[in-house]
Amino acid sequence: MEKIKVGVLGAGTMGSGIAQVASQAGHYVVLADVNEEVLSQTKTKLRKTFERLIEKGKWTESYANDVFGRINFTTDLAHFSEAKLIIEAIVENIEVKHAVFKQLESIVGEDCILASNTSSLSIAGIGSVLANPKRIIGIHFFNPAPLMPLVEIIPAIQTSKETVDNAKNIIDSWDKVTVLAKDTPGFIVNRVARPFYGEALRIYEEGIADFATIDWALTTYGGFRMGPFTLMDYIGNDVNYAVTEIVFKAFYYDPRYMPSFTQKRHAEAGYLGRKSGRGYYDYSEGATPPEPTKDEALGQKITNRVLAMLINGAADALFLNVATKEDIDLAMRNGVNYPKGLLKWADEIGIQNVLNVLQDLFEEYGEDRYRPCPLLKRMARDKQTFF
Ligand code: NAI
Repeated sequence: MEKIKVGVLGAGTMGSGIAQVASQAGHYVVLADVNEEVLSQTKTKLRKTFERLIEKGKWTESYANDVFGRINFTTDLAHFSEAKLIIEAIVENIEVKHAVFKQLESIVGEDCILASNTSSLSIAGIGSVLANPKRIIGIHFFNPAPLMPLVEIIPAIQTSKETVDNAKNIIDSWDKVTVLAKDTPGFIVNRVARPFYGEALRIYEEGIADFATIDWALTTYGGFRMGPFTLMDYIGNDVNYAVTEIVFKAFYYDPRYMPSFTQKRHAEAGYLGRKSGRGYYDYSEGATPPEPTKDEALGQKITNRVLAMLINGAADALFLNVATKEDIDLAMRNGVNYPKGLLKWADEIGIQNVLNVLQDLFEEYGEDRYRPCPLLKRMARDKQTFF
């Protein structure tokens, strides 16, 4: 891949990681932010990260110097001229993004792709302010960007095929796993992953099991690297709750995505997770982690219920053409480290078996939340598999 100038706007958590990834790919990177202090902190943080990589023997000093040397830290957007790709990773606010995208278009050349790393705003909406909206696209990285392989590429209805192909080619050459997603709320991962948290919280709220038991069940019988409560404590209950609420509202309050009071109360109480020393679990020194109830039948039941809800969401994303079946499975394995793609998993479990779990829940609760995806019904009826 030809080395180009890549602009990254916003030097916070995501922007600094994206700048690192682009520089590691050999590009000349301009990392800009409005805040001088953020820029100097990010510079120091990146240096430290690189030093640790050298100490661990993962990087050589000259490689680290090259990667660092290719990043130009600046508050002056004029340095973006000549860039072929700009990835915006600033505050999640549509007015601010609109102002910034208008300004960017006045600086760069006609052939520059303008991308947003937004998690929750529509790419069509962001691109609406551009004189040439064919160049808008979503390029959605996962945190931490240098470590998470997945990048969702999201064309808006205005985006040209040329922009999609070029953006995908560039990011593919950065050693990332790219998937194409429709410009719909949560794209693939933030939509399909919701029941991992939501259904676990619901199972807890019904008093079926405590946090430790649910986590034990999903790691033991589901093979997930982390249970949902441990994971929510990592992500932060404030952050995870906010994503759920945004997705719920964006889907016009579809009960499938309904946020949980338990999580809201934890966030409100300041029980944010690891970062505040306490979430669903206590992380203070000397605290003893609670013991799960290791009941096999219970563990299987919890896992089957959460998994059926996850598969239902993945099937729905396929049913509504959010992405291909291959990309939906790739996304969940590479964006949130699922042990298997959900659709492949459905084939293994048997679609009829997944459907039975959903139909039992739907019948018992009478809630729309548990309605089985029509695609699963059709496939079970016709004895089909996803792969
Ligand atoms: P952050 O708060 O760490 O960084 C945002 C940076 O943008 C700050 O340094 C701020 O000074 C700067 N900024 C704000 N307004 C600006 C402007 N007008 N011009 C230039 N710089 C400006 O935020 P974070 O977490 O990095 O998120 C950035 C974007 O990435 C958001 O759109 C978010 O939805 C998205 N995102 C975040 C993920 C996460 O896990 N944090 C994951 C994937 C996407």
